Amino acid sequence: MSGEKKIGILTSGGDAPGMNATIRAVTRYAIYHGIKVFGIKKGYNGLVNGEYSEMSARSVSDIIHRGGTILLTARSPEMMKEEGQQRAYKTYQEIGLDALIVIGGDGSIRGAEKLAALGANTIAIPGTIDLDLSCTDYTIGFDTAVNTAMEAINKIRDTSTSHERCSVVEVMGRNAGYLALWCAITGGAEEVLLPELKPETGHYDLDEVLELILVNRSKGKTHNLIVVAEGVGGSNELAARIQERTRIETRATILGHLQRGGTPTATDRMHASMMGMTAVETFLNGKCNRVVTYRNGKYNDISITEGLNAEKELDRKMYELVKILAV
Ligand code: ADP
Ligand code: F6P
Repeated sequence: MSGEKKIGILTSGGDAPGMNATIRAVTRYAIYHGIKVFGIKKGYNGLVNGEYSEMSARSVSDIIHRGGTILLTARSPEMMKEEGQQRAYKTYQEIGLDALIVIGGDGSIRGAEKLAALGANTIAIPGTIDLDLSCTDYTIGFDTAVNTAMEAINKIRDTSTSHERCSVVEVMGRNAGYLALWCAITGGAEEVLLPELKPETGHYDLDEVLELILVNRSKGKTHNLIVVAEGVGGSNELAARIQERTRIETRATILGHLQRGGTPTATDRMHASMMGMTAVETFLNGKCNRVVTYRNGKYNDISITEGLNAEKELDRKMYELVKILAV
C-alpha cells in the first residue's frame, strides 16, 4: 500500500461497553501504521451531515475503561433512505477516505453494506450487547452487559428470597434471547422466556410457567426467578398473572438501559483491542467490505454480505441447562 491512507471510524446503533476501547485500538493501531484516522460523530448522522474531525493518539487517551462512546452514537433515519446514503458517501469522498470502520450491530452493518454498494470500502466490527450476529461468536459489550444484569439479579434475589417472592426480571436483547439465556444460567433462574421459542403462540405457555412455580414451591423452593427477554416482553403483566393465579407475591423488574452502561470487563477490552487491530489489518491487507469475526477462538474477517446472511440459531442445550440446573 503506498501514499497517505485515511480511514474513518464511527459507532452506530445502541452503544455497548467496549466501544471506546475499540475506538482506541483502531486509532492507535492505524496511526502506528502511518494511517490518518477521522472520527465521525453520532453514527451515520455524522457522515450524512459532515460532522467529523481528525483523531490523534491523544484523542483516545483515558477511554479504555469508559462505557458509552466518545464518538457518540445514534440511530440515523436519514441513512435508511437512498438520499441519506448518497450524502454519507459524499462525505466519505470529501474526506478522501480509503475505508470506513463501523462499530455496531446488524443494523449498522447493513448501513455499511449500503455504503459499500455505492463504492465505499467498509469494515465492520460487531459491537452490541445483544450477541445477535450469526457470523461471530462474540460481539463487543455482551460480557459487560451480562455481568451487569447478573449483579442486578443477585441483588433482586436477596430481597425476593427474604420476602419469599417470585421475581420476574426483564433483560434487553431486542429480538434475540442470548442475553436472557446467559442471564438465566449465570443468575440461577428457574425459567427463561425467549423470543426464539414458540413464536406462533406468544413464546411461552402461561399455565406451564404457573405450574413450574407451584411445583417448585412444593419442592421447598421459596423463591422463583423468571428471566424474560425483551423480545418476549410483558413482564409487569406476567408478574400480575403469577400473583393472581398462584397467590405468591410477585414483582417485576425491567433492567433497561442500566445494562448498556458501565466500565467494560477485561473480556470486552480484550475483544475490543483484538477486533480493532484485526479491522486495521484487514484494511492493510487490501480487503474490502468485511466484517471482523471471532470464531472458535480466532479473529478473522468475512464478507459483509455473507456475514449478514446467516441466521443465528438459539443454543437449545443452553436452554435445557436452565431447566436442569433449576431442579
Ligand atoms: P444496531 O446496529 O445496534 O443493530 P440499528 O438496527 O438501530 O442498531 O441500526 C443502527 C443504524 O444503522 C440505523 O439507525 C441506521 O442509520 C443504520 N441502518 C440500519 N439498517 C439499515 C439499512 N437497512 N440500510 C441503511 N442503514 C441502516
Ligand atoms: O441493540 C442494543 C439495545 O440495547 C437492545 O438490546 C434494545 O432493544 C435496544 O438497543 C434499545 O434501544 P434504545 O436505546 O433506542 O432504547
